[in-house]
Amino acid sequence: MSTVSGGVAASREVLVLLRPSGVAGLVPELADPSAPHLTVKDQGVSRGDGLFETALAVPGDHGALTVRKLGAHLGRLGGSAEILDLPVPSPAQWRQAIDMGLAEFARSCPGTAATVKLTVTRGPETAAGLAPQPTAWVLLTATALPDPSVRPAGLRVLLLNRGLDSRVADKAPWLLAGAKTLSYAVNMAALRHAKANGADDVLFVSSDGQLLEGPTSTALLVRRNAEGRRELVTPLRQQGILAGTSQAVVFAAAEREGWPLGYGPLTPADLEGIEGLWLASSVRGVAPVLSVDGEPLPVDDELTDRLNAWLREDRDPGAHAVTVD
Ligand SMILES: Cc1ncc(COP(=O)(O)O)c(C=O)c1O
Repeated sequence: MSTVSGGVAASREVLVLLRPSGVAGLVPELADPSAPHLTVKDQGVSRGDGLFETALAVPGDHGALTVRKLGAHLGRLGGSAEILDLPVPSPAQWRQAIDMGLAEFARSCPGTAATVKLTVTRGPETAAGLAPQPTAWVLLTATALPDPSVRPAGLRVLLLNRGLDSRVADKAPWLLAGAKTLSYAVNMAALRHAKANGADDVLFVSSDGQLLEGPTSTALLVRRNAEGRRELVTPLRQQGILAGTSQAVVFAAAEREGWPLGYGPLTPADLEGIEGLWLASSVRGVAPVLSVDGEPLPVDDELTDRLNAWLREDRDPGAHAVTVD
């Protein structure tokens, strides 16, 4: 692996490797993001066997970058690692590597926001019986500073069958439903399918007709409940979907403001009569859905702004997040 000593001043990316060290466990080390670092035998490459998280870091008052909802991301990574039975760096080791990356990024790209991608693979293939030696790194990449006065663009969404039923997490845990694995080829193919068919994004539906999630986002909807009050609802997590950190933070903020909340189950029929549907994710934010399968949905700019403001507040997601290790 090649490394850099003098920083990466010309680059809009910063890479930190978590390098195994006999004495100290894992040691973070700045490395050249454009140089090769993986062996072709790494199971992250050969089998898509590994995990990732993508968070957003935003510059604060004194130029320092803060990663939004980092605890929730690290908690979810720990949950994914359990599902994959994969030994991963501890939250403290990730934080050390992230801090190194943030400091370098703030120095080389002052005032710029960054995506912070944590990746850990099962590492190079080892002889049978030997413990895996995971490969782990943090990559920061410059991204446009989210402007609170600019709403995320509205989305035309297609409902696509995921081909799995909604009890997959219980019935077939080896399918790793609910873990943020490196195997995103299917999700990317679904997005290409949507684009080839005149849409912008996707909402997956289980083979037994339940609304699930987007390929890179969580669905949120607002509807009136039996008492005529607005409630905020997201699909049921136990149905094999990824627990969204954005959804968790938004739910926690809505709860503090006294909103009734609901966790599905939801079917496409539940889209009838709603006040709005959104796809939420860490980097894009909460984007309003304009139509589903060509059927227009109501778009409420005030609600879109409120949901994004709740996301930006970045308060503790509490019980709505996957537990931190
Ligand atoms: C499948 C899936 N669901 C939901 C999300 C949204 O998660 P978060 O809000 O933590 O970014 C993502 C993010 O990439 C995702 O890949």
